[in-house]
Amino acid sequence: MKNMHEAVEKNAGLMAILILIVISFGAMVEILPLMYQKETTTPVDGLKPYTALQLEGRDIYIREGCVGCHSQMIRPFRAETERYGHYSVAGESVWEHPFLWGSKRTGPDLARVGGRYSDEWHHMHLHNPRAVVPESNMPAFPWLEENTLSGELTAKKMTIFRDFGVPYTDEDIEGAKAAVVGKTEMEALIAYLQSLGTALK
Ligand code: HEC
Repeated sequence: MKNMHEAVEKNAGLMAILILIVISFGAMVEILPLMYQKETTTPVDGLKPYTALQLEGRDIYIREGCVGCHSQMIRPFRAETERYGHYSVAGESVWEHPFLWGSKRTGPDLARVGGRYSDEWHHMHLHNPRAVVPESNMPAFPWLEENTLSGELTAKKMTIFRDFGVPYTDEDIEGAKAAVVGKTEMEALIAYLQSLGTALK
């Protein structure tokens, strides 16, 4: 027994192979079941892929770093479900690449913010949060209403998402550019926010 241990300790190649075996086993036990469990791979009823405009809005959400202050993950605790609604389930995130669950809550969770406010409210809020929430320390994003979308890459993005399993149709992809061109980034971001969490209320 002592000699076997010594052999492993003195042989970096053998040690590397054994480490690899141990890690692979751990990954198999922890990760593989998640990839095949129905609960984590099947979309919830009523889940729809983002429209072209919502998808562009999501990219603006990523670009502006909203995820650094807002989570999109309601945990199954009473204090959270009373405030935000039904806790988040895996089936709502199956088409999220990458997911934006986040972990920092300087502001409230946004997983179910869709439909909570009007488009006008969001517009005023993003233009200047203090206009609607006087004590807010959220930054203002006034450039979003000046920048417009070209739609150059929208179809390409949707094609990539389709490769990942998001059920976009050929018509969705063909019409992508026309659906977003000339729209402001503000409109796209609000369309995205209004869709959040609406599949499961
Ligand atoms: C520096 C942190 C910070 C960043 C960055 C930030 N927010 Fe906020 N956000 C807050 C805070 C704090 C509040 C609560 C006060 C308020 O409503 O303005 C808030 C509130 C909100 C609300 C209202 C939520 C509710 O349920 O009342 C929305 C919607 C929102 N933010 C969207 C965004 C979007 C979209 C972005 C990116 C463009 C963003 N936030 C970036 C801090 C932030």
